[in-house]
Amino acid sequence: MVAGCDINDSAPRAGPHCVKEELEEKIVSSTVGLRGVVAGNSSISKVEGEIGKLVYQGITIEDLAENATFEEVCYLLWKGTLPTQSQLDEVTAGLASKRDLPVGAQDIVKSFPRDGNSMAALRTAVSVLGLFDPEAQDNSPEANYRKSIRLTARIPTIITAIHRASEGKPAIAPRDDLSLAGNFLYMLDGEEPGPAAERIFDVALTLHADHGFNASTFAARVTIATLSDIYGAVTSGIATLSGPLHGGANERVSAMLDEIGEPDQVDDYIRGKLAEKGARIMGFGHAVYKVLDPRARILRALAEDLTKEAGASKYMAMSTRIEQLMLDEKGIDCNVDFYSATVYRMLGIPVDMFTPIFAASRVAGWTAHVMEQLADNRLIRPRANYIGRMDVPYVPIEQRG
Ligand code: COA
Repeated sequence: MVAGCDINDSAPRAGPHCVKEELEEKIVSSTVGLRGVVAGNSSISKVEGEIGKLVYQGITIEDLAENATFEEVCYLLWKGTLPTQSQLDEVTAGLASKRDLPVGAQDIVKSFPRDGNSMAALRTAVSVLGLFDPEAQDNSPEANYRKSIRLTARIPTIITAIHRASEGKPAIAPRDDLSLAGNFLYMLDGEEPGPAAERIFDVALTLHADHGFNASTFAARVTIATLSDIYGAVTSGIATLSGPLHGGANERVSAMLDEIGEPDQVDDYIRGKLAEKGARIMGFGHAVYKVLDPRARILRALAEDLTKEAGASKYMAMSTRIEQLMLDEKGIDCNVDFYSATVYRMLGIPVDMFTPIFAASRVAGWTAHVMEQLADNRLIRPRANYIGRMDVPYVPIEQRG
C-alpha cells in the first residue's frame, strides 16, 4: 500500500502518479485473462496443455485426423459419439443439401463492399442468416441441431462468395455431391480438387473444429447463456476468432514468411523481432499448451509433404528454422496457426481466407458448445476485481480543473 493513498478511504486524492501505483498494486494478476480458471463443465473436448494432448469426446486428435472425415467429426462433437453408417449418411446429406444461401441473404452478401475485411463480412453474413431462418429463436435441442447443420453447411458458401466478390468474380454455386471439404475447394475456383488435396483440407478442418474453452467458444457460450440464439452466439464466436491473438494469427504467419523471403534471412528477422519490446512472433505460444500443440505436429507433417510435392521446400526450411530459433531463444513452441498457413498456401488457398476457414471448421465446435450450454444453462456472469476509486464526490463542471 502506498502511504497516504488508500483509494478506498475518503481522504482527499493524492496525485495521479500515486493513484496509478495504487491501482497496479490492486490488480489480481493471477486471474487476469482467466488463465487456469475453470469456467464450467464440458464433455466436448479436452486440452491437456502440459502433455500436448487434445481429444474430442475422448478420441485423440491424431486418431481422428488419421481416420475420420470432417462430417463424422461434426456428428461426434454435436452428438457425443461417432455416427453409425446411417447416422453419418444422414448428417452428410444434411450438410450437403443446406449449402445454398437463402436468396435474400445472397443479395445482402452481394452488396458488401468488395474491399471489406473478410471476417467482418463473414460475421455480418452469419448474423443475416439468422434473420432469414424462421427457426432462429427456437432454442429446442432439435431446432438447434438443425441450425448447427445449416450454419456449418453455409459458412463455406459465404466465405468463398465473399472472396470471389473481392476479386470481382461471381460466386460459384455449391455442389451437393462433394464432401464439405471438397465442395469448399471447388467453390474457390470451380475446379474439383484431387483426392489428396480434399483429404488434406478435410484433416485441417478436423484439427480446428474444437478446443475447450478457447476465447471464441467461450464468447459463444456467454452469448447463448443469456438465452439469445445460436446465430448470435456464432456471430460472437466469429468476432472473437478474428483477432491476431486467436484465429487471425495464421494470415500473419503467411505474411511473415513472405517478409522473410529466404531461409538465410530467418535468423536476422526473428532475432530482430525478438529484440523489439513486446513483439510477438505469430504462430507461436499458447495460453494452454506448455509443449508442442499436437495439431501443429500433424500440420507440420502435411506441410512437409505438400512443400516437397510443390518444389517449395524453402517454406519448410524457413519454418523449421523459425521453430528452432523460437525454442532456443524463448523456449516457446509453435501452435496450430503456424503450419496451417503453409498447408493452406500449398493448397492454393488465398491468404484472406485463412481465418475464415478456421471459422468454417470451428463452427462445429461453437454450435456443439451452444447445445451443451443450453442443456444445463446458467447465465455466465463473473465478477470484476474493482481497482477503481471509491467515494468520489460529483464535482460540478465549472469547478473541475
Ligand atoms: N512471440 C514472442 N514471445 C511470446 C510469444 C510469441 N508468439 N508468445 C508468448 N511470448 C512470450 C511473452 O512475451 C511473455 O514473455 P515475458 O514473460 O518475458 O513477458 C511470455 O511468452 C508469456 O506470454 P503471455 O502473453 O503471458 O502468454 P499468453 O498465454 O497470454 O499468450 C498467446 C498466448 C497465444 C496470446 C501468445 O502466445 C501470442 O500472442 N502468440 C502469438 C499469436 C498467436 O500465434 N496466436 C494463435 C494462438 S492459437
